[in-house]
Amino acid sequence: MELFDSLKSKIKGKDLRIVFPEAKDERILGAVVRLYHDDLLTPILIGDKDEVLTVAKEHGFDLTGIDIMNPNTYDKYDEMVEAFVERRKGKATEEQAREQLRDVNYFGTMLVYMDKADGLVSGAIHSTSETVRPALQIIKTRPGVSRTSGAFIMLRGRDQEKYVFSDCAINPNPDAQVLAEIAVESARTAKMFGIDPKVALLSFSSRGSAQSPEVDKVREATRIAQEMAPEFEIDGELQFDAAFVSSVAKQKAPDSKVAGQATVFVFPELQSGNIGYKIAQRLGNFEAVGPILQGLNKPVSDLSRGSIEEDVYKTAIITANQALQN
Ligand SMILES: CC(C)(COP(=O)(O)OP(=O)(O)OC[C@H]1O[C@@H](n2cnc3c(N)ncnc32)[C@H](O)[C@@H]1OP(=O)(O)O)[C@@H](O)C(=O)NCCC(=O)NCCS
Repeated sequence: MELFDSLKSKIKGKDLRIVFPEAKDERILGAVVRLYHDDLLTPILIGDKDEVLTVAKEHGFDLTGIDIMNPNTYDKYDEMVEAFVERRKGKATEEQAREQLRDVNYFGTMLVYMDKADGLVSGAIHSTSETVRPALQIIKTRPGVSRTSGAFIMLRGRDQEKYVFSDCAINPNPDAQVLAEIAVESARTAKMFGIDPKVALLSFSSRGSAQSPEVDKVREATRIAQEMAPEFEIDGELQFDAAFVSSVAKQKAPDSKVAGQATVFVFPELQSGNIGYKIAQRLGNFEAVGPILQGLNKPVSDLSRGSIEEDVYKTAIITANQALQN
């Protein structure tokens, strides 16, 4: 079964509630109407009802049956303000909370935190930091994960080839500990998408072929990750060819259970990760699905501002699957 058919079948009819704070965007509305009518999830739109309905009408979308919540008229606003102040532990006063929760991303994220929704999809008109910061501050990372990170599922040729690339979206310069956590979380993400995780921590060196502090970091991260998650096959440091091509692996890391057959590629820092996935996408004709934010207590997904309706639709399906996994 193709990846998305399988992901859809898992969530169909499960009534997972996903918040869309950008309810006046045509791409969001188009995707939400399809998701609702395909019975894949229960969407919650955020915004002024009249304004949202006007935009929907302009574009020919029928929102009958879909919830629209307005931060300015929400009847449990006081309760939400109180929960936010409590969660921010001295970092926001009641007055600041009242103001901040008018922001659709903060409001939507609080709905997820307060269990009134199962996940959130935003970022079609907001920047990564505007979308992700409320999640980092409110939903926070799971125990044992200090930083969230962003993975891409890379697909090519009717889903025959499937890989995970990470971190391609969040942490500019992870230390060895954070890199190890990214590796372990990426293995979990791979499993969720039906990929057998064989995790390679990438470098410009394979097994000591080059010496530098950057390489030391990757080697140390590999050691920590192997210790953290002995249930996964994790190896490093490996160059991309040693990780991917079995004939090169035989020369550069002959005893490795990962080299030559890696399915999860962990980049040493954000520049290489972000560049790497875009090269595979643009030169290698891979479809890049993500970023999938890993390690949060509940799922929040950040769309690219260049997204089309289909991206919103797919991202919401992934987010609902993450919610189901939780
Ligand atoms: C993710 C990002 C937006 C967070 O930035 P920020 O809001 O300035 O981060 P701050 O340092 O101010 O931290 C805000 C809060 O989030 C937490 N936080 C920051 N980064 C985090 C991470 N990766 N994981 C978990 N929590 C994180 C901080 O601990 C802090 O929590 P607190 O307020 O409870 O103390 C930032 O790392 C970023 O912009 N990364 C690059 C994103 C990008 O441009 N990607 C391009 C490709 S898509």
